[in-house]
Formats: sequence, structure tokens, C-alpha cells
Amino acid sequence: MKIAIISASARPGRQSHQVALEVKKRIDKLSIDSWLWDVKETNLPLLDYTFDSHPSPGETLKNLKSRLDETNVFLIVSPEHNGSYPGSLKNSMDYFFQEYSEKVFGIVSVSAGMLGGISAAKNLQQYANTLQGIVYPPYLITPKVQNLFSDGVLSDDGYAGRMDKFLKGFLALAKKLQ
Ligand SMILES: Cc1cc2nc3c(=O)[nH]c(=O)nc-3n(C[C@H](O)[C@H](O)[C@H](O)COP(=O)(O)O)c2cc1C
Repeated sequence: MKIAIISASARPGRQSHQVALEVKKRIDKLSIDSWLWDVKETNLPLLDYTFDSHPSPGETLKNLKSRLDETNVFLIVSPEHNGSYPGSLKNSMDYFFQEYSEKVFGIVSVSAGMLGGISAAKNLQQYANTLQGIVYPPYLITPKVQNLFSDGVLSDDGYAGRMDKFLKGFLALAKKLQ
């Protein structure tokens, strides 16, 4: 099993990236093979050609393609921006399609408000279905992200417990489906 954790915000001051790193840390502790797709780092241009139709895909796209082919589980960590997931995520992921097909998806949403990005989470489930993914039905919401970390360390025990519970269920489903 190989998991891609996708960090979806490309903003300079992004808070959801801390959550993505925390998820990665917890998955590493379980000795499960994973990698981080940070859309800010890959910084793909506005979509012109999808990978399959691209006349000259660059190294970044080719590397992503081979990593996605090796990956069978996706965990998207996304902020809520104006009631949905950010364009930075969709623009990056839309370069590919069959690379996601019939693979397992989990959703973690993040917001500064009380609702934890629940609208983004629901929209992402729909998006993952469109990509022909198999979506883990529960999602993890992350309200008030600005209060959860001190100096990059997760300091909220309640949220840490909810994250562990979510990961346990998600990983159990992912293993069953391998
Ligand atoms: C353009 C924009 C739109 C936003 N819209 C929402 C929103 O609809 N609901 C919400 O709870 N928070 C919203 N926020 C606040 C984010 O939830 C907050 O920035 C949080 O830290 C997660 O996003 P980030 O990872 O980009 O920092 C918005 C932030 C930005 C930059």
C-alpha cells in the first residue's frame, strides 16, 4: 500500500499544510509507505493539456505521473476557501484521471471557522467520486485550525484523538481493498 497525502493550499500563510504534515507524521509512525504531494511545491501552471494529451510534459509532470501510478491510496488535506476546496487543488489534480481510478480516497478538511471546512469535505467526496475513486464515507473536519498547533506541534488532544480515530478507520478500509 502506498499513500499520497495531498496538501491542497498554495497560500504563503497556509494553515492546512500543518495538518497535512501531521497526518504524514502519524502515517510514518505506522511504517506505512507514503509521500506528500504539496501542490504549492509542484506549482503546476493553469491546466492546458492533461498529462495524457500533453505534447511535451516536463519533468515535474512526468515524476508526478510515475508516483501516482505507484500510489493506491489518496488522502486529501484541503482548506475550505469560499465554501469549497481551492482551485489550486483541482487545477493540480485535473492533469490526471486514470491514475486515480478505482483507488481509495480519504478527505480531511481544514478551516479557520467553527464548521471545519465541511462544505469543502462534501464537495471533495463528490470530486473523488467523479475521479472514479472509492471514497471512505466519514471525513475528518478541522475547525479553528489556528488554535490547534503551537510552534508546528499539534497541541489539541481532542483533535489529535479524532485524527487517530479517522486514520484508523480509513487505513483499515484501504487495507481491506488492497
Ligand atoms: C480565499 C479564502 C476563502 C476562505 N473561505 C472560507 C470559507 O468559506 N469557510 C471557512 O470556514 N474559511 C474560509 N477561509 C479561511 C480558511 O479556512 C483558513 O485560511 C484556513 O487557515 C485554511 O486555509 P489555508 O490552509 O489556506 O490557510 C478562507 C480563506 C481564504 C484565503
